[in-house]
Amino acid sequence: MRAAIIIIIIIIIIIITLCLISGQVLCFSVFGCTGGSVMFKCMYKSNDQHKEKYFCRNTDCTTGISTETQRQWVYNGRFNLYDDENSRFFTVFIRNLSREDDGEYTCGNKQKWSHDVTLVVNRNSSSCGTSVIRSARIGQTITFHCKYDHKFKTHTKVFYRLNVGPVHVLNSSQSSQSSEGKFILSDSQKDHFNVTIRDISTADSGVYLCGVERHESDDQPSETSITHITFIKEIHLNVQSQISSVQVEAYISKSVFIKCKFPQRFKGNKKFIQKDSSQKIPVDEQNQWVRHDKVHMYDDTSGGLLKVFISDLITADEATYRCGVNINNDEDLFTEIKLTVRQVDHFPASSKSAAVIGESVKLTCNYPEKHNETIKHICKENNEKICQNISSSEKKRFEFSDSTAGVFTVIISNVSWRDAGVYWCGAETKHKHVTSVSLTNKHELTLTLPPVVGREGDSAEIKCPYDAKYSKELKHLCKGKCFTPDAQNIIQSNGDYFISPTILIKDNTELNLFTVIMTELRAEDAGKYWCAVKGAFNLPIELMIVMKDVITHEASVGGSASISCKYIRNQNQGFFCRGDQPNICVRDGVRVSSNKRTNNVFSLTDETSAGVFTVNISNLRAEDSGKYWCAEENSGSFILTEVHLHVNGEMTSSDTKRETTQKTETSGSFCQKSLSVR
Ligand SMILES: *[C@@H]1O[C@H](CO)[C@@H](O)[C@H](O)[C@H]1NC(C)=O
Ligand SMILES: *[C@@H]1O[C@H](CO)[C@@H](O)[C@H](O)[C@H]1NC(C)=O
Ligand SMILES: *[C@@H]1O[C@H](CO)[C@@H](O)[C@H](O)[C@H]1NC(C)=O
Ligand SMILES: *[C@@H]1O[C@H](CO)[C@@H](O)[C@H](O)[C@H]1NC(C)=O
Ligand SMILES: *[C@@H]1O[C@H](CO)[C@@H](O)[C@H](O)[C@H]1NC(C)=O
Ligand SMILES: *[C@@H]1O[C@H](CO)[C@@H](O)[C@H](O)[C@H]1NC(C)=O
Repeated sequence: MRAAIIIIIIIIIIIITLCLISGQVLCFSVFGCTGGSVMFKCMYKSNDQHKEKYFCRNTDCTTGISTETQRQWVYNGRFNLYDDENSRFFTVFIRNLSREDDGEYTCGNKQKWSHDVTLVVNRNSSSCGTSVIRSARIGQTITFHCKYDHKFKTHTKVFYRLNVGPVHVLNSSQSSQSSEGKFILSDSQKDHFNVTIRDISTADSGVYLCGVERHESDDQPSETSITHITFIKEIHLNVQSQISSVQVEAYISKSVFIKCKFPQRFKGNKKFIQKDSSQKIPVDEQNQWVRHDKVHMYDDTSGGLLKVFISDLITADEATYRCGVNINNDEDLFTEIKLTVRQVDHFPASSKSAAVIGESVKLTCNYPEKHNETIKHICKENNEKICQNISSSEKKRFEFSDSTAGVFTVIISNVSWRDAGVYWCGAETKHKHVTSVSLTNKHELTLTLPPVVGREGDSAEIKCPYDAKYSKELKHLCKGKCFTPDAQNIIQSNGDYFISPTILIKDNTELNLFTVIMTELRAEDAGKYWCAVKGAFNLPIELMIVMKDVITHEASVGGSASISCKYIRNQNQGFFCRGDQPNICVRDGVRVSSNKRTNNVFSLTDETSAGVFTVNISNLRAEDSGKYWCAEENSGSFILTEVHLHVNGEMTSSDTKRETTQKTETSGSFCQKSLSVR
């Protein structure tokens, strides 16, 4: 045991002796840490003319570097070498060290001389081998903090900048400031030093290195020992230039859409979003929506735009966002968006509207009154619930108008089945580089087909339009909503589910129209039907039945008319309205009903036990002549009886009571007209 120790000591002495021959260092050690870098010099004789210098681990130099180039940095992966023919050394710089780099190397030239170098790579201590990204704006002053092991407290601290190779900026034994005080180094001489860079400009962007000067033996620097630099920290300084700064106001539980515009020459560059001072969120995919937490982003490379959408806003979303583009490795351009998220109580939660295909629908939107001169905006959610601008071809059907202060309306005309969905509206604000929309109102738009009116005993056509992409799918017509337990399947486009032989079908795949013709209509056929393709759409359509019998009533100007309407089904609600078309009369006509028994000159008396309700129209004028309807409703399904009132010019002593009932011969043509579905 003791003999072994003695042998080891002897070997060490021999090595030291071999390393030092006539004052020449032939072998030395350099220290680095994983993730860090190291820089050292290999000396050579001044009269050495051989140009090829190398630093290699093995004879074929697969790990290391060898070059004949002089006066410029050359690199092989992480290995860098600089040979200055006028100095008596060349410099080796190894970046991003790993444990595998630990070991024996040789540096020298191919012929005359060489040194053995032991590269010692330690595992990361808490302070060595770190790398940080710092962002700074033009004009700012920024300070880096470099932590070192206390054993280096008296060592020289250095600050380098990485260009092609490392470039000396400052060292603590030289001066604490660079010329003009741009860089300032202050050493605590205990455990850290700080480097301050003043008045940042775009030229300052790049990678910086903090290091300590070391000797082979850190405790006793000697004349002969080779000094080297252990770089302990890398700082990537990202310089950002601000294009503009805008204020955007949005509301709790609502959404905001922001569009940032960048100079065209950077349209293909990488975009990012940064919330306050947190890490930048790069937008990795182009021309599609990507999402990071709550923030949806779309890098539009053709327009040089970054679109940002944030929904379901909460107070925590209030922040300063940077909407940026990377213009080269360490330089960004950005627009600052100061987003405030306010609580406003008077914006309604959300509304649901049903629009009739082919007709128009009105949506109401609020906006903060101070924004009265901003652009009114409406958008529609896509599958990812991102609200997107309406395409300009569709936009033609959207008409905006101001109603009262802080409220505008949007009328969508000629509603098509594609219009179903969720809409948001709000005020759009345009700045030079930013367009923002604070979305305040949500509208869920469902669709219904226009009602179909059929006369008892005749036929009615129910037309179900569909998108071309469903032409091969099975279409259904149900009474009640298809695919629910209450639905009654009437028929399918393949002819299944005949409930009666009086139904005919036609699926026109060119017009994308599935038509069901119901013949021999009866009062019971009245109701809500649904056209559907499973998993695609389910559209309601109302079938109203007009009874064969027509009531004709004659009365005189100044007198009154009492019209008796029969209940066809029991326990219905009766009502009475005026209008040429039954569907319009039902929806918009002046009316009296079991619920509203009087309305101006109209009054209604319900005699349920007798199965009738009676409507009295008093103070008759000549212009009261016309078409009226006795109607009964049972959960949205209508049965109607046509009433013709003739008011005669002369005043008679009493109501003429010449009420008659007649069968209409021309009911067929009436039916055809009402059946036309737009
Ligand atoms: C520090 O600066 C002095 C003076 O310029 C220089 O002699 C010395 O080599 C430098 N040390 C390092 C490690 O850069
Ligand atoms: C370095 O900066 C930190 C924080 O910025 C400060 O607390 C510390 O005192 C500074 N150290 C020196 C030596 O200036
Ligand atoms: C907008 O509101 C301001 C006051 O709030 C008013 O002076 C201005 O006339 C309004 N503009 C329009 C177009 O309504
Ligand atoms: C939506 O499109 C219109 C033009 O159709 C445009 O003027 C407007 O700025 C767009 N809004 C947004 C937020 O993209
Ligand atoms: C309504 O839209 C349909 C297509 O959805 C179109 O064929 C029709 O011409 C439009 N009508 C009007 C009045 O614009
Ligand atoms: C209709 O109402 C008027 C006024 O209320 C009344 O004078 C008249 O007798 C009523 N007619 C019938 C037939 O009930």
